[in-house]
Amino acid sequence: MKHLFEAGKPGHRTLVLFHGTGGKERDLIPVAKLLDGEASILALRGEVSENGMLRFFRRLAEGVFDEADVMARAQDIKAFLEEAVASYGLDPSQLTAVGYSNGANMAAAMTLLHGPVFAEAVLFAPMVPLKDTPEIPLKGMPIFLGAGTNDPIVVPENTRALEELLRRRGAAVKTYWHGEGHRLTREEVLAAQSFLQTP
Ligand code: MLT
Repeated sequence: MKHLFEAGKPGHRTLVLFHGTGGKERDLIPVAKLLDGEASILALRGEVSENGMLRFFRRLAEGVFDEADVMARAQDIKAFLEEAVASYGLDPSQLTAVGYSNGANMAAAMTLLHGPVFAEAVLFAPMVPLKDTPEIPLKGMPIFLGAGTNDPIVVPENTRALEELLRRRGAAVKTYWHGEGHRLTREEVLAAQSFLQTP
């Protein structure tokens, strides 16, 4: 899988970055630096091209996902992470997912399908990625959700449904609401930064 790796402070967390539709692995690097300047960075490039726009899984229409593709690619990314952990000498118990939009949806799908692959997750503008998912315990996994009350793609009911799915599995979910649409605000990144600093 195409990616970019930057080593951080030894023994510290690794931020695994998942860009949004039409993005590239570099997009979330400034966000990662703000979230935790000492972290290692493993920034992934989505392998699906939708009219030239890169994504992490196929969709049939806006908000209508090819669920078989979501599941297959979630599995592939999990396998890739295992290889990356071994080849870069990372601590597998210190992986933090950071995703925006389509990338947040993939990180959410991996969490719902495979449990705590990540120790924690920061998901900006995510939505419920799959209709049915197994009840795999998330054992207090800290998850930050960033959501916009005026997001036309992810309506607040959808954010609440995702929040509920994750909480029911035992995750410690914090949702940050902003008044904008489907975008990433500096304030929510700063809120996620303090979320990651809270022990
Ligand atoms: C998706 O397709 O994952 C979501 O609709 C978000 C987007 O990429 O527009």
